Amino acid sequence: MKNVAVIGSGTMGNGIAHVFAQFNYQVNLIDINQTALDQALKTIEKNLDRQVAKGTLTDHQKQVTLQNISTFTVISEGVATADLIVEAATENIDLKLKIFKDLDLHAPKSAILASNTSSISITQIAAVTSRGEKVIGMHFMNPVPVMKLVEVIRGYQTSNETTDTIMELSKSLEKTPVEVNDYPGFVANRILMPMINEAIYTLYEGVAGVYEIDTVMKLGMAHPMGPLQLADFIGLDVCLAILKVLHDGFGNSKYAPCPLLINMVAAGRKGVKSGEGFYRYT
Ligand code: CAA
Repeated sequence: MKNVAVIGSGTMGNGIAHVFAQFNYQVNLIDINQTALDQALKTIEKNLDRQVAKGTLTDHQKQVTLQNISTFTVISEGVATADLIVEAATENIDLKLKIFKDLDLHAPKSAILASNTSSISITQIAAVTSRGEKVIGMHFMNPVPVMKLVEVIRGYQTSNETTDTIMELSKSLEKTPVEVNDYPGFVANRILMPMINEAIYTLYEGVAGVYEIDTVMKLGMAHPMGPLQLADFIGLDVCLAILKVLHDGFGNSKYAPCPLLINMVAAGRKGVKSGEGFYRYT
């Protein structure tokens, strides 16, 4: 496996492209928008510079990594010779289903189609393709170059061969893959999102303030970020969307999103990306 196409050049997509390119895969980074692709290359270069400054990467390795990435605005061209495609587009089911139909049409028949979805059903995505056994979840964590986990999600039809290939491939990126089954929220977000939601309820009910809640969790549980800061970092709209998947998928009120979260998203306070969430970023 040598040629990897990554769909979507946002935070996750550029991080995934960065890591594959750093480990000598040829990466085609695909987005409909050339400006977004140019911005992604700048972000990758900035993040490579951090690694060079830290001494974990040489300047030569940085240059090779950048040379390993080509950009495309047309899916059919970008995936034509891919062995693996990792989709990291916006977390919207209709968009993902459309992309996977296109991938099934244009990618080589032997290619594995992976999604970086944080909570959309892999089985449902696979159902719009003619190669369900080759569709799998490859859920990286943000920031991708730093976080060691890849949550590998087996859809209902995913074959052992596809799973083994993706487990090995993740190790070649110096990540630790963990195999899980395809149920709402998989494992990462099934456990993380109720914690974040509970932190928001704790604020909403006036038990404590933002600083106090985050400090309890940071210093008390040794989390690198408190849950409210982490929610800002992930995006409050993304947190809300994942909670809705859990709530709908299990039909259990314990996953009901906190009204404060719903209000903040409706008001456009989405966290770091909008300049304000539980904290201000401007
Ligand atoms: N690329 C490369 N290196 C990066 C980087 C990037 N994008 N971002 C940070 N780094 C490096 C820095 O260079 C730094 O390296 P050194 O410590 O060796 O100098 C290190 O990471 C730490 O960065 P900072 O010093 O800037 O800041 P920090 O110490 O506060 O750490 C953090 C930042 C790594 C993000 C840390 O706060 C953290 O681990 N936070 C929690 C992240 C987390 O939980 N992610 C999962 C989110 S959930 C998700 O992604 C999935 C989902 O479905 C919602």
